[in-house]
Amino acid sequence: MADAYDLVVIGAGPGGYECAIKAAQLGQKVGVVEKRDALGGTCLNIGCIPSKALLHASELFEEAGHKFADMGINVGTPKLDLKKMLAFKDEAIDGNTKGIEFLFKKNKIDWLKGAGKIVAPGKVEVAGKDGKQTVEAKNIVIATGSDVAKLPGVEIDEKGVVSSTGALSFSKVPGKLVVIGGGVIGLELGSVWSRLGAEVTVVEFMDAILPGMDGEVCKTFQRTLKKQGFTFKLATKVTGVAKQRSGYKVSVEPAKGGDGETLDADAVLVCIGRVPYTEGLGLEEAGVETDERGRVKVDGHFKTNVDGIYAIGDAIAGPMLAHKAMDEGSALAEMLAGKSGHVNYDTIPGVVYTAPEVASVGKTEEQLKADGVEYNVGKFPFTANGRAKANKVTDGFVKIIADKKTDRVLGVHIIGANAGEMIAEAVIAMEFGGSSEDIARTCFAHPTMSEAVKEAALAVTGSPIHM
Ligand code: FAD
Ligand code: NAI
Repeated sequence: MADAYDLVVIGAGPGGYECAIKAAQLGQKVGVVEKRDALGGTCLNIGCIPSKALLHASELFEEAGHKFADMGINVGTPKLDLKKMLAFKDEAIDGNTKGIEFLFKKNKIDWLKGAGKIVAPGKVEVAGKDGKQTVEAKNIVIATGSDVAKLPGVEIDEKGVVSSTGALSFSKVPGKLVVIGGGVIGLELGSVWSRLGAEVTVVEFMDAILPGMDGEVCKTFQRTLKKQGFTFKLATKVTGVAKQRSGYKVSVEPAKGGDGETLDADAVLVCIGRVPYTEGLGLEEAGVETDERGRVKVDGHFKTNVDGIYAIGDAIAGPMLAHKAMDEGSALAEMLAGKSGHVNYDTIPGVVYTAPEVASVGKTEEQLKADGVEYNVGKFPFTANGRAKANKVTDGFVKIIADKKTDRVLGVHIIGANAGEMIAEAVIAMEFGGSSEDIARTCFAHPTMSEAVKEAALAVTGSPIHM
C-alpha cells in the first residue's frame, strides 16, 4: 500500500484540477490520477483551448483576406500555412497543460500517472506504465469527464470521418466538409474550416441550430453563418456515411421520414453531443449508481450513494462546460474542508466562440413562456453602438429579459463580437439579483460594445438613448 491522501481526484480536467488545487490550498493532501500524458483534460488537450486557438487564427486569416483592405491595410491575398497554424494551436495546448503541471507542483499535489479504478471505498488502484499501485484516500472524487457520442453505423477513424479531436488536426483543408450536428462543436469547428476554405454543410436533426438557445438569437446566428458560406440542412438526419474511392457519400433524409438524398464530402465531422466517460472506473464493483444516461448520480453536495465517493463535471448531470466543472470542483473542495461551497446553476453562462460570438445566461423567452412567467424584454442592436460601428462589427444585438413585476433580470442573450466577454457583466448582475434598472443606472465606459448591454437594459422598461 502506497501513500494515504485526504483526497484522490480521478481525472485532471478543469473539474478535477480545480478541485485538487482548491483542496490543497485548504490544507488537504491531494493526489490526482490522470491517464493522459498531459494534465488539463478534454478542455486543455482536445477541447476549449485548441479549438479557441484555431478559431482565433482562422478568424484573423479570414479578416486578412476580406477585411484588412477596407481599413487601408494591404497585405495581398493571405497564404495559409496549415502546418504552422496547427503548431500554433499545439503551442497553446502545451503552454496551458504545462501551466497546470506547475500549479500541481506549487500546491504539492501528486500526479498519480495512470488509469484509476475505484477498488473499494477509500481505495484507488492506479495502473501506470510501470505497473499498478493502490492509494488510500479519505475521499475520492470522480472527475473523469466525457467522451464523443457515437452515431450508430458511422465509424469515426479520426482521419476522414472525425470527431472534434480529428477536426482539430486535419492535415489539409477539406474541400467539402459535412458536419453532423448543428450544436456548439459543429458551428465552432465548422467556422474554422469554412474560414480556411472548406465548403461546410451542417446537417441538424432538430429544426434549429443550437437547440435550447434563445430562438431569436438562433435565427440571426443562422442567417449570419449562411452569409459566411454555411449550408444548413435542418430537421434532417444522417442515415449512413459510405466511403468512396475519394471522399464520402453521406446519406440524409428528413428527420420525420421521406425521400432521402446524398451529400458528397471530403471529410465528415460527427458532433452530436458527448457522453459521460466512466469506462474502467470500477463504478459497478464499488456500487456507485449512474442514471439512465450513464451520468454518475450525485446529491446537492456532489456525493454519490457511496460514502466518501463524490463526482463533478461532465461525468454528472448539467451543462458540459469547463467553467461549470471548475465551479463544482472548487465548491466540492470547500465542502470537504468543512466550508460552504456553492454553485449557482441559474447563472452559468454559455458561449459559442464563432464570429459573431453567441453568449447567454439564464432563461430564454421560450423557457419563461413554458413556465408561465411574465416578463419584459429590452433589445439593442449593435448597428446603433458607436464602437461596433467604428470597428464595422455591427452584426447582432443584446437582449435582456426581466421579470415583469420585480424587474429582476432572468436572462441575457447576446449575439455580437466579444459577446463572450460581455456576458460576464450580465452574470454578475444576475448573481447579485440585479434588476434591469440596476444595469441601466450603471456607468459603462464609452466607446465600448458593452454599452449595448446598458442600452438593452434601458429598453426593458423605457427607451434606449441611441435608438
Ligand atoms: P474532462 O476535461 O473531460 O477531463 C477528464 C479527465 O479524466 C481526462 O483527462 C481523462 O483522461 C481523465 N480520465 C478519465 N477516466 C480516467 C481514469 N479512469 N483514470 C485516470 N484518468 C481518467 N467548454 C467550455 O466551457 N468552453 C469551451 O470553449 C469548450 N470548448 C470545447 C471544445 C471541444 C472541441 C470539446 C470537445 C469540448 C469543449 N468544451 C468547452 C467542454 C469542456 O471541454 C468540458 O466541459 C470539460 O473539459 C469538462 O471537464 P471535466 O473536468 O469534467 O472533464
Ligand atoms: P451539442 O449538444 O452542442 O450539439 C449536438 C447537436 O447535434 C444538437 O443540435 C443535436 O440536435 C444534434 N444531433 C443529435 N443527434 C443528431 C443526429 N443523429 N443527426 C443530426 N444532428 C443530431 O453537442 P456538441 O456540439 O457535440 O458538443 C458537445 C458538448 O461540448 C456540448 O455539451 C457543449 O457544451 C460542449 N462544448 C462547449 C463549447 C463551448 O462552450 N464553446 C464548445 C464545444 C463543445
